[in-house]
Amino acid sequence: MIFRPQAILPQAHARRGQVIFQQQGCVNCHTPPLYTNNKLTPALGFKIPDDLRQTEDILDVCVGTDPYLALKTRRGTGFYKVPSLKGVWFRNAFGHAGQAETLEEWLDPARLKPDYVPKGFHIGPGPIQGHPFGLNLSAADKQDLIAFLRTL
Ligand code: HEC
Repeated sequence: MIFRPQAILPQAHARRGQVIFQQQGCVNCHTPPLYTNNKLTPALGFKIPDDLRQTEDILDVCVGTDPYLALKTRRGTGFYKVPSLKGVWFRNAFGHAGQAETLEEWLDPARLKPDYVPKGFHIGPGPIQGHPFGLNLSAADKQDLIAFLRTL
């Protein structure tokens, strides 16, 4: 058989995607084997109380997603937990409010535009803010990253 690079196997895409996942630093928060570090990140504008800051459960990095649910609702805690990426292949609501319907949408920089209309759950138009990771990859790298995420 003649080797044609454009006809690489799906597993090869996922393997490349795994390298991209490591290179992009996703592993720092979505750490294998659980694909979460099980830590809480502060919502945009939330000041971490000093006593909680001492614990190991908090990662003092804000990913900048919409703080409404964490800060303005009765059940809000001020934090968003790093979700596990296990099983993303069968899920269809990404982000804490389920605004992105697909992994492609979650990784699409167009979702940051002010007049963007989310394809997942939303009340009105408006961007899916924050979580800037992986947004600026090339189309091929993004495809491979998503192929990897779908193996988890
Ligand atoms: C600094 C920590 C951090 C890094 C680095 C990070 N993430 Fe996340 N990720 C989060 C947090 C926190 C959320 C939840 C955000 C929310 O719901 O508002 C999240 C959510 C997600 C989701 C949505 C999951 C769901 O069930 O809703 C996906 C998919 C995802 N991240 C993939 C990635 C990928 C791929 C990378 C690397 C390109 C990455 N993340 C880098 C912290 C991080």
